[in-house]
Amino acid sequence: MKPLIVANWKMNPLKLSLALKLAILSDKKNIIICPPFVYLKEIKEVIRKAKIGAQDCSWQDQGSFTGDISPVMLKNIGCRYIIIGHSERRLNHNENNTVINSKIKTVLKAKLIPILCIGETKKNDNLELIIKKQITEAFNGLSLNEISKIIIAYEPVWSIGSGNNCHPDKAEQARIIINNISKNKILYGGSVNSENCCDYLKKALFNGLLIGNSSISFKEMEKIINKI
Ligand code: PGA
Repeated sequence: MKPLIVANWKMNPLKLSLALKLAILSDKKNIIICPPFVYLKEIKEVIRKAKIGAQDCSWQDQGSFTGDISPVMLKNIGCRYIIIGHSERRLNHNENNTVINSKIKTVLKAKLIPILCIGETKKNDNLELIIKKQITEAFNGLSLNEISKIIIAYEPVWSIGSGNNCHPDKAEQARIIINNISKNKILYGGSVNSENCCDYLKKALFNGLLIGNSSISFKEMEKIINKI
């Protein structure tokens, strides 16, 4: 099976015309394009093979929640996946494992697939302790059937956006720890580029990649697609 590639565009690009060009370049069967909310509908109209996902959603499905977006709304415009608990949400919006757990439940209720991001903050953090806590708290109250639908993205926070990717051997250690807790699909994320992308798939045996910066570079994305 082809590895899954999640393209997390974050708050980029600023113009819709550029977003559409990027979406057309990334339109492959195994790619999930996660653009800013405002581009989702237009992107859905120009792609044929890729899937679309959102970068976050509300923990509620409807009501008086100013500025929030319901996973049901996202489903209604064609989203299939939602990234939950990205480190930038944890850091900039104070999202803790309890909030993340509520969001996962709402996403699953809407019959969408959550992509749960986990990972240690500092290089020398206790990997096993942190991963176990993040997973058990995020999965709290879910049935085994619900858990099996979740995709986990292992993203060492120190590596995200830093250009300093995690050594594939260390990433593999994390993958094994996660695998021992649950049998979900696992992606690697953190400074993935066209040079290192294959290491996480072939050496560290991840099921796919979550790509930030390189996914908004036409050159890099083209190379990554060709390699994978
Ligand atoms: P990066 O981002 O590839 O730019 O490190 C990854 C992420 O934030 O998911």
